Amino acid sequence: MNILIMGMGYVGVTTALLLAELGWYVTGLDPNESKIRMLSHGTLPFYEPGLDELLRKHLATRRITFTSESDTAVYDNEIIFLCVGTPSGNDGSADLQFIKEAAESIGMRMQGYKLIVIKSTVPVGTNEQVVQWITQAQTSAIPFDVISNPEFLREGSALQDALEPDRIIIGSENDQATVLIQTLYKKLSSPVVVTKPKTAELIKYAANAFLATKISYMNELARLCTKMGVNIADVAVGVGMDHRIGPHFLRAGIGYGGSCFPKDIHALRFAAREHDVDLTILEKVVQVNKTQAVYFMDIWEQLLGSFTGKTIAVLGISFKPDTDDIREAPAIGIITKLLENSAVVKVHDPIAKLPIHMLSEQLQQFESVEETMQDCDAVILCSEWKQYIAMDWGQLRSRLRQPYLFDGRNMLDGAKLTSQGYHYSGIGMSMG
Ligand code: UGA
Repeated sequence: MNILIMGMGYVGVTTALLLAELGWYVTGLDPNESKIRMLSHGTLPFYEPGLDELLRKHLATRRITFTSESDTAVYDNEIIFLCVGTPSGNDGSADLQFIKEAAESIGMRMQGYKLIVIKSTVPVGTNEQVVQWITQAQTSAIPFDVISNPEFLREGSALQDALEPDRIIIGSENDQATVLIQTLYKKLSSPVVVTKPKTAELIKYAANAFLATKISYMNELARLCTKMGVNIADVAVGVGMDHRIGPHFLRAGIGYGGSCFPKDIHALRFAAREHDVDLTILEKVVQVNKTQAVYFMDIWEQLLGSFTGKTIAVLGISFKPDTDDIREAPAIGIITKLLENSAVVKVHDPIAKLPIHMLSEQLQQFESVEETMQDCDAVILCSEWKQYIAMDWGQLRSRLRQPYLFDGRNMLDGAKLTSQGYHYSGIGMSMG
């Protein structure tokens, strides 16, 4: 069976490489020719640990090829995965323009049976919509099936998540199509849930929204912890040991970011409003997330005296470690607020880069942590890259004008840093 993956973004490339690793012959299709050239030469268009090796491996095994030619790509492949983007529209709804274009392109070009697998995160009802778009684009009636198979990959650990998923969700109403997709994944030992397409579509949104809810709950509780002199990280350990709750996604910090949680929660709330249902919990989840960094920046500003006129080092601008993705990254909001307060901001990240249009005399990005911290009045840690945890903070202290260290991810050893002379403060911990 030959497989086509439409959309060579983060999900598409990871899915393509997973299927190649599972032994299938895969073609990656994207209209962006420079991206196709990069991939064909073994270079990823984004940073993701482990994927580049797998790309080079399967270029060598010839199980993966890349193209911008839709005609032959659709003709040659029986199974087609839709991995195109579904960005937020102005009203918060998911914009299905790329899904529609892909569906129409398949409908126009198909000359034999196709199984279309929707992997992109799409609103409930999209599966039916794709069936309609394909049917309308067909010049003669040719059979096809559309199934939903949402992804649960995390940036930074996509490869591991792809190879060992907690579950495989298949939304299908056709037994033959279900068997076909199960065959693709037969080497994976994960449990498979076969359900209706609409249910599969909602599972994806519900999972992301629930994870974001856990984070916002802990983030709000962290505010109370600060007032009570209790450490939120210790609370998380005790709470997470209850197997009904679980230890994951209880890390308080400056808020969640990325291309998924913010967008998907907006889309779910939009869909709910269309059905006259108000998802009030999610409204609060978003509100806590929007105000979390500002809440703790106010506390840090009090400790420092003022941000105005100060030089502040911001370490880690990606929305989480092991990615170069700065979409909706809390660090960007923090930098913006510092600039509004007339602070000079010096930025470092192991991989991610600030867009050039943001840079100015007041905001610069440096290659090394040493240069970044030189003559700063405070350091704010925004993403928990391993490098930052492992570095010699004792030595770095001498670079600073004032040794204020604000840990937006609670990732450092506060007691040790205090003994090294830092004024250390994190999220949801005793101020004393
Ligand atoms: C998320 C989901 O975890 C994936 O299952 C899903 O497939 C993906 O969205 C998607 O829809 O494509 P991702 O956004 O890559 O993955 O990253 P996460 O690890 O979920 O982190 C999201 C944000 O939450 C980050 O900013 C992270 O720093 C923050 N976070 C995470 C916390 O603040 N506390 C935690 O305890 C965990």
